[in-house]
Amino acid sequence: MTIWDEKKLENSTGADVAVFSKLMSEMYDQSWYGILGNDEIEFFLSWVQGKRALEIGSGTGRITIPLLEQDIDIFGVEGAPGMLKKLHSKVNGDADTLRFILWNAMNTPYPADDCTFEMVIIPFSTYGLVHNNVENLGENRLLGEISRLLVPGGYLVINDWRVGEFDRSLVNKEQEPWVHEHSHPEHGTIIEEQCSFFKLNPNRILNQQIIRERKTTLTRKNDSKIMEQFQESIPIWDTLDFPLLGQDAGFEYVKCDHCHFHESPSVHHIFKKK
Ligand SMILES: C[S@@+](CC[C@H](N)C(=O)[O-])C[C@H]1O[C@@H](n2cnc3c(N)ncnc32)[C@H](O)[C@@H]1O
Repeated sequence: MTIWDEKKLENSTGADVAVFSKLMSEMYDQSWYGILGNDEIEFFLSWVQGKRALEIGSGTGRITIPLLEQDIDIFGVEGAPGMLKKLHSKVNGDADTLRFILWNAMNTPYPADDCTFEMVIIPFSTYGLVHNNVENLGENRLLGEISRLLVPGGYLVINDWRVGEFDRSLVNKEQEPWVHEHSHPEHGTIIEEQCSFFKLNPNRILNQQIIRERKTTLTRKNDSKIMEQFQESIPIWDTLDFPLLGQDAGFEYVKCDHCHFHESPSVHHIFKKK
């Protein structure tokens, strides 16, 4: 089954967002990214049970597939063709394939009517990633669109790594690189190195909007060949910023809960559409 307007989908120019390249898509399920935290699926299940739900940035289906297996009426938008291809390879039949579309989450409006969903979920810090290179963050475009898509009283859950206030003394200073190893089915070990630089870029909603400029290099370990290099500009919102974003888009901010789905703690921001 699908709720997506096929005419509008046909006319779309596709997505191919800069994050989660073909190489990353091939490694995602085997890397730490692909691990499903023990409580994670129970948490999302408790929110989407019995509701028509939308996941923003469905990826390879880490969350979506277990939810579909529990007969949850879930749909998704995903911007990276490689990630979506993996997800599609895991679903049963065309009806479920049609639930998940190649769509840039910042391309609004989505091909769906007002009040189509009762629940929207954005797991795994995807909210920031989706805003890679987005200009005019003060438009608050994504939350505005989610508000349009949700029925009154519908909920939005955003899971994010940022558990407190960002340390602003880090702004405009070189940071130590973050290095992590992945296992690629063909290339063996791939080293991911991220170099970040933080700056402030005020907008209509926040005069302390933090932007992370991040340069990522993916290097094959056995011959030190650089396989990919990309630059991202990803906004960061404090726990204190999320209520303002929601308020600006017609949400009541319900609460912020801490959790331990993975090694590092993270938070859920829970919003209710007014
Ligand atoms: C950290 S992964 C999370 C994937 C999945 N939700 C999970 O929990 O495993 C972030 C996902 O968001 C997708 N994404 C990033 N920017 C996007 C955008 N502008 N539109 C749609 N999807 C996007 C990426 O391609 C990637 O699949």
